[in-house]
Amino acid sequence: MKKISGLLVVVLLINLAGYAQNATNLIIDGTNPKTTISRHIYGHFSEHLGRCIYDGFWVADSMNVPKKDRIRLDIVAALKKIKVPNLRWPGGCFADEYHWRDGIGVRKQRPHMVNTNWGGVSEDNSFGTHEFLELCTLLNCEPYIAGNVGSGTVEEMAKWVEYLNSDASSTMTELRKQNGQDKPWRVKFWGVGNESWGCGGNMTPDFYSDLYKQYATYARNYQDAPLMRIASGANSSDYNWTEVLMKNAANRMWGLTLHHYTLPTGNWRKKGSATDFDEKEYFNTMKNCLYMDELVTRHSTIMDKYDAAKKVALVVDEWGIWTDVEPGTNPGFLYQQNSLRDALIAGTTLNIFNNHSDRVRMANLAQTINVLQALILTKGNQMILTPTYHIFDMYKAHMDAKLLPVNFSSPDYSNGDNKIAAVNISASIDSAGAVHISLVNLDPNKKITIRSSLPGINWKTAQGQLLTSKKLTDVNSFENPNNIKIMSFGGAKKDGDQLVVELPAQSVVVLELK
Ligand code: AHR
Repeated sequence: MKKISGLLVVVLLINLAGYAQNATNLIIDGTNPKTTISRHIYGHFSEHLGRCIYDGFWVADSMNVPKKDRIRLDIVAALKKIKVPNLRWPGGCFADEYHWRDGIGVRKQRPHMVNTNWGGVSEDNSFGTHEFLELCTLLNCEPYIAGNVGSGTVEEMAKWVEYLNSDASSTMTELRKQNGQDKPWRVKFWGVGNESWGCGGNMTPDFYSDLYKQYATYARNYQDAPLMRIASGANSSDYNWTEVLMKNAANRMWGLTLHHYTLPTGNWRKKGSATDFDEKEYFNTMKNCLYMDELVTRHSTIMDKYDAAKKVALVVDEWGIWTDVEPGTNPGFLYQQNSLRDALIAGTTLNIFNNHSDRVRMANLAQTINVLQALILTKGNQMILTPTYHIFDMYKAHMDAKLLPVNFSSPDYSNGDNKIAAVNISASIDSAGAVHISLVNLDPNKKITIRSSLPGINWKTAQGQLLTSKKLTDVNSFENPNNIKIMSFGGAKKDGDQLVVELPAQSVVVLELK
């Protein structure tokens, strides 16, 4: 349990002494909210991979769906509902082989390339810079562009920034105007490479930090367009990468990334099925998911050494569950179904990020449509919302709200000789004074009663939303698209000054206190 103030200790003792023995006692400290939960924690990621861009956002002219140009507007509408704050593009590994000039100008004349990372398919570059910025405009979100460091040049990235952000007269800005965009887009978020320790060039951290500084120097701030430069960060527990980057370049970056995927089996060769797993594999998956808390804590501690003021953001710009692909699909397309287990992963991970929002100020789930832990799956002109989508819908109330610290000891969820915390929670207060509490019960066998003290919080009513299903393996399918959907939650009540919540097994609940 974290350190808590004198007043809270008194409340905790009263709480422990006087109330139900079987309940988990929780304190939500409303006395001094400080940290803002950046909305950018709720960001997404769309790579030129499988059917995320092509046959996802960007479809054939002939497809019978509402479209602007070739962008699917039914998908745009669904993503607007969850208030997507930023979208990362064009990769991923693809970013370090992407040459932006191939993706501008007359579409029919754009060069074709082989997507060597993802399935060896032909990329016709019909979705490029202008199309991506149009998509972000439709979504009303911030673009987050990953520049090519692995196989590009300093000049290429510098010119891309100029093309997008400058309002002065130059060959680049004239070209942009010829291509139909008069005013600069002023893109703020720029990644300098991706996974530079791996698919982005297999570099050492020392070599990359020098390259980072070189690329970041010539990616200029144009008028009214200061850049938030984001350095390519560590792979999971590569703490040395964070150490070296912070030591060498902390004063030149807005953010440093971290990538971590949840593998059900922990084995990259046989990751485990998205829909066919037993309780033991579920338990292991959740253990691997909870590891994000340790990763964020330890990377943050290293960052604190070089940046005590926490100016540099930890940007977890790839996270989510990575399973074996759906049988019969292209292994290079990373298409996987999305079950109740995915929803529990999303709820848990977002709680971790909220609770670390003093350092984690941006994150991007991988990936938006038809790839890895997707929000949306499509089949021809049909689309379905996954359980993960519903979690983002429920949690959007936390965006830009003030974090309220939570103190409690979770009951265990045991499997064989192993145990993990059954419950994880985060809470926030928004600008209108409404308090939102997101609670996840990972235990598939037990409901859990939570009794909360809420010092400093004035409230009369508690309303809630619930996501659960009979089986952890349940999914939304094209035949049964609303199998898992948000339900209203009646399991929260006021008991004196306390809030009592009956948290169902394998569920996510978000409460609003007013
Ligand atoms: O999200 C899929 C891939 O995972 C990305 O392209 C890469 O950055 C990571 O290894």
